Amino acid sequence: MIQPNPCFTRPRHAGRGPAFADAYRLIEDAGIHFQGQLVGTAASVDPKAPAGNYADCFVRDFFPVGLIMLLEGRGDVVRAFLHLIMQLRGQQEELEGQQIAPGVLPASFRVQRNADGDEEVMADFGDRAIGRVAPVDSMMWWSMLLHAYVQYTGDLEFAQGPEIQRMLRMILSLCLQSRFEVFPTLLVPDGSFMIDRRMGVNGHPIEIQALFHSTLRCAALLLPEPGSQWLVDLAKRRREVLQSYVQDYYWLDMDVLNRIYRYETEMLGENVENIFNIHPESIPLWVQDWLPDGAGYFVGNLGPGRMDFRFFAQGNLLMLATGMATATQAEALTSLIEQRWTDLLGRMPMKLVYPAVEGDEWRLITGSDPKNIPWSYHNGGNWPVLIWPLVAAMLKVDRADLAEKAWQLVESRLPAARWPEYYDGRLGRLVGRRANIGQVWSAAGFLLARYFLDDPDVLSRLGFDEAFTHGSTERG
Ligand code: GLC
Repeated sequence: MIQPNPCFTRPRHAGRGPAFADAYRLIEDAGIHFQGQLVGTAASVDPKAPAGNYADCFVRDFFPVGLIMLLEGRGDVVRAFLHLIMQLRGQQEELEGQQIAPGVLPASFRVQRNADGDEEVMADFGDRAIGRVAPVDSMMWWSMLLHAYVQYTGDLEFAQGPEIQRMLRMILSLCLQSRFEVFPTLLVPDGSFMIDRRMGVNGHPIEIQALFHSTLRCAALLLPEPGSQWLVDLAKRRREVLQSYVQDYYWLDMDVLNRIYRYETEMLGENVENIFNIHPESIPLWVQDWLPDGAGYFVGNLGPGRMDFRFFAQGNLLMLATGMATATQAEALTSLIEQRWTDLLGRMPMKLVYPAVEGDEWRLITGSDPKNIPWSYHNGGNWPVLIWPLVAAMLKVDRADLAEKAWQLVESRLPAARWPEYYDGRLGRLVGRRANIGQVWSAAGFLLARYFLDDPDVLSRLGFDEAFTHGSTERG
């Protein structure tokens, strides 16, 4: 077997102290090679990881690692990763009576070596995953990484190759296919993104909508050709409609809450105020006390008769980092983070979902999932990987002070605890009960956030360059 080269020769922050050196080493140790080329990183190097697939390279977990690779001049790794993932598409097993959805990308892959040293790449499309969840977000993170790669390296030729062009067309057609939709948002099953278990996140979760918006942006990478111009036009139009829809209907602040509280229901017809038939009785008690004046956020999910009032960090942070929010919303969301710092960040940035569901609600929503007990894991646990979108978001709104303060929290606890996957408890003071240590995206989040803090300009060079818009009320 060819001995792989080290992935970093002289990484930018290595000399900064043991925590940095350790984070780079973890990424290095997690490297997955195929035919002598580094093609990805394992999710965790913890030999005692609770599930076997933590040794896999997950597409979503690799995203922050991929950005670090770009910043360290290892565009070849990102390229190899993008290429490999694309080729794995063909491995998806056909389900009886069902056509393969072209464009769906695997959640994760691993490289298996047999006794002769032959290598085989095995992908998981949710057909092996716990709970058999569909990784809808994989194609989205893949598209965003492709966009970042092109923007950062200027290698447009790679994106314009026939295979990538075909992949992009497949992804876009899959997302834009009309099914049973009446909204511009994307309808997805439960557990189809970072929260890959039952957590009441089926329907139209905010994280998927933010990722969808960035995916549609990749239509710009399609070469103009008569056969696919309609796809480019459709993607552009859908992107605009999606953005204003999320800005208008997912936004919650005290004014909106007051309106919902006094909503009339059972309204039929076109120009009605309560179009989703949200029942004021469904507003949870905590919201009115928790939501500060002059602050706001995007609700977790929205559909017929349903507004999920929980705060989902990744979706909200991406709304800022990708410029999908309006300027006014960006300011109000920042104010929420600042005023509710203890609840949302506590001792480890940042809570994936706030608040936790408990009691009967926990039983019904999670299916009595012991991993997702209140204030643990996906159900109110604190995830250090979120430091990178948090820092990106705060830099985007010119609040480097908040970004730095959050990063210091990570630095003070994460390396010493050897890069756990998540923390438990209301304030995130406990290392997660079933958390891995040596979790690669935790270390990558810590490093990537530092690159952003040291040189905020890299954000736009990695594709986070879109300015906030003015919303419909501001449009007048
Ligand atoms: C857990 C997380 C998922 C992550 C995976 C690997 O399943 O919920 O988001 O991709 O672990 O780290």
